[in-house]
Amino acid sequence: MQNLFVNIREAKLDDLKAIMQIEQLCFPHGAWKEENILYELKENPVAHFWVIELSINNEDGYQVVGFCDYWETFDSATICQIAVHPYLQRKQLGSAMMDEIYNDCYAKKIRTLTLEVRTTNEKAINFYKKHGFKTETTKPHYYDNGDDAYYMILEVK
Ligand SMILES: CC(C)(COP(=O)(O)OP(=O)(O)OC[C@H]1O[C@@H](n2cnc3c(N)ncnc32)[C@H](O)[C@@H]1OP(=O)(O)O)[C@@H](O)C(=O)NCCC(=O)NCCS
Repeated sequence: MQNLFVNIREAKLDDLKAIMQIEQLCFPHGAWKEENILYELKENPVAHFWVIELSINNEDGYQVVGFCDYWETFDSATICQIAVHPYLQRKQLGSAMMDEIYNDCYAKKIRTLTLEVRTTNEKAINFYKKHGFKTETTKPHYYDNGDDAYYMILEVK
């Protein structure tokens, strides 16, 4: 029988290749460029960038299968990116990262978690609603291609 091990940890520069692969698969239109991810990993002082990795039987090491990036600004935080490899979506890996973000925010006394999501991204909207986010408003033409965004908020308590 095979055992699956899941680990969430801070991202390292060595993870860049895996992160970029997932980014391009998950966001075929409008993926962040490598330089944007590098900025998050190396320079952005408010960024918290984590990866989720899996190992089968703890034998061949772990493989990065998803990531998340949130910005901490005083008593509020914004989720900038969250993505799971398309082959492994709907297996609660995104939820594991979201729980980790929530618990981290709670420990840091952050009071609100916010995000923008494309109004057409139904699975992400469902995902955020499942985690308690409520739509506060719509931001027209928020994205470069003119798409609207929902601005969603979750109280951390
Ligand atoms: C959004 C995303 C991170 C969710 O991660 P995930 O690991 O697939 O999600 P989970 O398995 O933890 O799902 C939790 C809940 O979210 C909702 N959900 C997730 N995928 C869904 C889908 N395809 N359709 C409808 N609801 C979905 C469901 O309520 C689900 O709970 P359930 O499985 O018990 O019904 C993932 O779909 C993804 O990487 N999408 C592409 C990138 C993206 O759009 N990111 C968000 C940008 S704002």
